[in-house]
Amino acid sequence: MRVLLLCSEYEGLIKTGGLADACRGIAQGLVDAGHQVTVLLPQYTNLYSRPTGEWHSVYFHLGGRPLGCAIRQLAQASQGGVDIRLLEHHDFFHRERPYDDGDQGYADNPLRFAFFCKAALEWCRQYLPDVDLIHGHDWQTAVTAAYLKQHYAQDPVLGRVPFVFTIHNGAYQLTAGAEWFGKLELAQQQDHFLNMLEQGIRYAAKVNTVSQGYRDELLSEPAANGLARLYQQRQADFVGILNGCDYQQWDPATDLTLIKNFDSTDLSGKAACKQQLKARFHLPAADVPLMVAVSRITGQKGYDYLIPALRQFLALSKVQVFIVGSGEQHYCRQLYQLQEDFPAQFRFFEGFDETLAHQTEAAGDFFLMPSLFEPCGLNQLYSLKYGAVPLVRLTGGLQDTVVPWPDQAATGIGFSDVSIAALLSALQQAEQLYLQQPAYRAVQLRGMQQNFSWQSSVQSYIQLYQQALTEQFSRS
Ligand code: ADP
Ligand code: GLC
Repeated sequence: MRVLLLCSEYEGLIKTGGLADACRGIAQGLVDAGHQVTVLLPQYTNLYSRPTGEWHSVYFHLGGRPLGCAIRQLAQASQGGVDIRLLEHHDFFHRERPYDDGDQGYADNPLRFAFFCKAALEWCRQYLPDVDLIHGHDWQTAVTAAYLKQHYAQDPVLGRVPFVFTIHNGAYQLTAGAEWFGKLELAQQQDHFLNMLEQGIRYAAKVNTVSQGYRDELLSEPAANGLARLYQQRQADFVGILNGCDYQQWDPATDLTLIKNFDSTDLSGKAACKQQLKARFHLPAADVPLMVAVSRITGQKGYDYLIPALRQFLALSKVQVFIVGSGEQHYCRQLYQLQEDFPAQFRFFEGFDETLAHQTEAAGDFFLMPSLFEPCGLNQLYSLKYGAVPLVRLTGGLQDTVVPWPDQAATGIGFSDVSIAALLSALQQAEQLYLQQPAYRAVQLRGMQQNFSWQSSVQSYIQLYQQALTEQFSRS
């Protein structure tokens, strides 16, 4: 199959969260399974790579306005056989951050990403005429589904191409006033406003999200954020496909960012990693469990109740906690305050630092992920592999990937209620488990031996593609 994958982030080039990891995992997995994959994403200012290969220019009208862009190719050798194309448009994408200025989302986001989708289709029909299927990710690519149905139904190339839509996070929908339907040349619905995510769910041939658990949650409110009825309407075409873990990037036995490598047969390297992290951040060398988190600092990740729960927990226990993350300032201020109040036990590193993310996974005895909701979550998969026993709220993909203590097959600690009390009790359970070393070690080693490789996820995507193609073929 020849697949065009549209995304707004790609690991190794630009990343704000797990979307980047997942897009690369899927693209690489498809190539490894023998398929041809072209990835198209915007060229932001601070992309880690510069294009060198062939380039095309594309011109079209959108909302009565003439627009154009260049599409350039990256050297393929550096990308594991994935053909990467970068869409260059100075006004729309020559910005430091993909979606916001660090505080507010850009006001022209609907136009920026509708432009991206329309340009992708115009480029595809001219330069990738043998494409079999287009696979888009999240709201940024969602209107591709509407354009295919509304602008290209009769096109000799695009008229036969199904669109598969993956939702990595149903809470990010991007809504805009009703005037945007016209500006973006989208068929107006009865709604008062435009919801970009909804356009993908409504018009894609197949829709999936990144775990079975989250897929089921999206069928009702409040998890669906207002779109439950639409998910229900599309239920027959809506599936859950769990993300994988890229063990080429995330394996403590080979990870080049670690001071010492380790695996489940010899954990001495992990002790060295813990010692190094503690020394770097001036945490006392005391022999106590180190609990870590690496995350976007946002409500989704549970900071509203994690911070007060940690405040109570640190007052009661000697455990140390290290958090690396970036995001909403009101949480960051509270994390700095926690650091001031518990100088021997708590450290916060504010920033997006991929090397430190790896080193933190390697150093942690536990990994904290008390998310309010979690479509899949990749950090718990990384932490399983790195022997940082995940402590998770049992929701969405977390529930699908972590078996909670005291189950015989436990790989982590779990709890359900969104409450300070429930989280505090899970933190205490973790500390107790750590004190029973053989039991802790068994949970840790079982986690390290789990396998969540992309291969099986990609097989499920291939099946979904085949269904979409078969149904498209029988319609035409
Ligand atoms: P989400 O996509 O909701 O942010 P995931 O667990 O799926 O959550 O993926 C998060 C990804 O982003 C992981 O690869 C994680 O290491 C990375 N990440 C998050 N915050 C940071 C940070 N501050 N520095 C480096 N990497 C980060
Ligand atoms: C989103 C979700 C996260 C998921 C990631 C990759 O950012 O919040 O749960 O793992 O996408 O699919």
